[in-house]
Amino acid sequence: MEGMNLIGFEENKTIQLQKERASGKKNPFNEASWQSSNRISLDLTYLFDTPGDSLSITLEDIKDIAPQVMKAHRMLKKDQGDICDDGIPMTGWQNLPEEITLTHLEEIKSAAQSLSGRIDVFVSLGIGGSYLGIEATCTALTHTYFNRLSRDERGNAPEIYFLGQNMDPDYVRDTFDMLRGKVVGVNVISKSGTTTETAIAFRILRNVLEKNWGHDAKDLIYVTTDATRGALRNLSKEKGYKTFPIPDNIGGRFSVLTDVGLLGLAIANIDIDEFAAGFKYMRNITMADNFWENPSLLHAAARYAAWLKGKKIEIVATNSVPLYGVAKWMEQLFPESEGHSGHGMWVSPSLYSEKLHANGQMVQQGERNILETFIMLQEHDNTVTIPHDKDNSDGLNYLVNKGQDMNSINRKVIEGPAYAHYLGDVPNMIIEIPRKNAFSLGETYYMMEKSVAISGYLLEHNPFIQPGVEDYKKAMFALLDKPGFKEKGKEIKDQISKMKRMRI
Ligand code: PA5
Repeated sequence: MEGMNLIGFEENKTIQLQKERASGKKNPFNEASWQSSNRISLDLTYLFDTPGDSLSITLEDIKDIAPQVMKAHRMLKKDQGDICDDGIPMTGWQNLPEEITLTHLEEIKSAAQSLSGRIDVFVSLGIGGSYLGIEATCTALTHTYFNRLSRDERGNAPEIYFLGQNMDPDYVRDTFDMLRGKVVGVNVISKSGTTTETAIAFRILRNVLEKNWGHDAKDLIYVTTDATRGALRNLSKEKGYKTFPIPDNIGGRFSVLTDVGLLGLAIANIDIDEFAAGFKYMRNITMADNFWENPSLLHAAARYAAWLKGKKIEIVATNSVPLYGVAKWMEQLFPESEGHSGHGMWVSPSLYSEKLHANGQMVQQGERNILETFIMLQEHDNTVTIPHDKDNSDGLNYLVNKGQDMNSINRKVIEGPAYAHYLGDVPNMIIEIPRKNAFSLGETYYMMEKSVAISGYLLEHNPFIQPGVEDYKKAMFALLDKPGFKEKGKEIKDQISKMKRMRI
């Protein structure tokens, strides 16, 4: 039997876009009309007055919170308040879209091209803020099965894999199978330079690279780390790796517009000029002092009002498979910044329709402690039409007759739940993304970064540190008998051995 032909399908637009980017074609992202047609928006229609909820959020709540938000906004602009880590104000991300230079973006592109042209496969190593933004953006703007396409279809980019974000030997081993027989380029990313997951993955990968290419392995390795300090900085000096600095005043989860994100995105042939332009556009919008026209301020106020009204879980649901990574990026940005002193909402990334047939029941009728935020993609890259069927035994011809394709139906996958969940007393808001491009992602990231920074002032703690994450690291180091943690390790092991066991 011969293989299947894609009869009735148009050429895949995502592949077309990848190829166009490779040929140097750019979106006119500096034109005002293009910018406004790609402006993301925030729809709060279903946030207010959920019908059966005695603790529903009202417009009055937002009006009451507005003065606090405005105070936070003014303080943030002046770098005031509880915003330091180790004495450094961690707000460098705020003006980065203005400060980043075309020369810098050119340097990143040329470094990316130089590596990309010599390799078949690119491995990005990192965790948390040194991973999620890169993966989210690459996934959002490339083909779902990117690594299985030909190099030409990938827009001349190498295959892309991620390591260092978990400690699972099966995942590591399986990933190495994908590297077999290929020239491998690496970007290891760690601001501290000491994160165990990343460091272990790097040591393993470096070891194989050196066994294959000896001294030349160093030319396949790019390092993104602190400008002056840390184990990775020292190792880079010793081995002669090309390095990219992470600014002192920008923390991991706010770093996607620094070299942390830019290098990987440039290797994936994503337009980093357009990405930076999206950040800049949203920075200008959110610098405005009009509360009611500022999406970051309204978003922060809405989430704070929800939290005060007992909403403890925020479902971030998208109708776009490629944008699911953005929901995962938010899962880090918000809880790692807000989860202090018993405060903050649990962020749960969700893909709709899939999750509507799982915890959708809980959303509609379970405990009423949920806020829902939709990331709705308006226009997908591709249009997939539903064929007319003369028998209509599945009853779907009504969709065809009304001219509905999968793109328009997939919008209803957000619009339907938004209304139904509102009636079920789940207040919700919709962040609408007109279409997937580097500009709209830049806008989205900046809007969220500013929103969570404001949230820190409202919750009265520093959103730029994560002491809780350090606690797990210390416990793990102690259990692994890391030098310097022997005493602590003994103490923890003693405590654990005295705990009453229950195991069946
Ligand atoms: O947002 C953060 O600061 C963290 O999620 C870090 O990015 C993460 O812990 C990785 O840290 P590092 O880049 O030092 O390896």
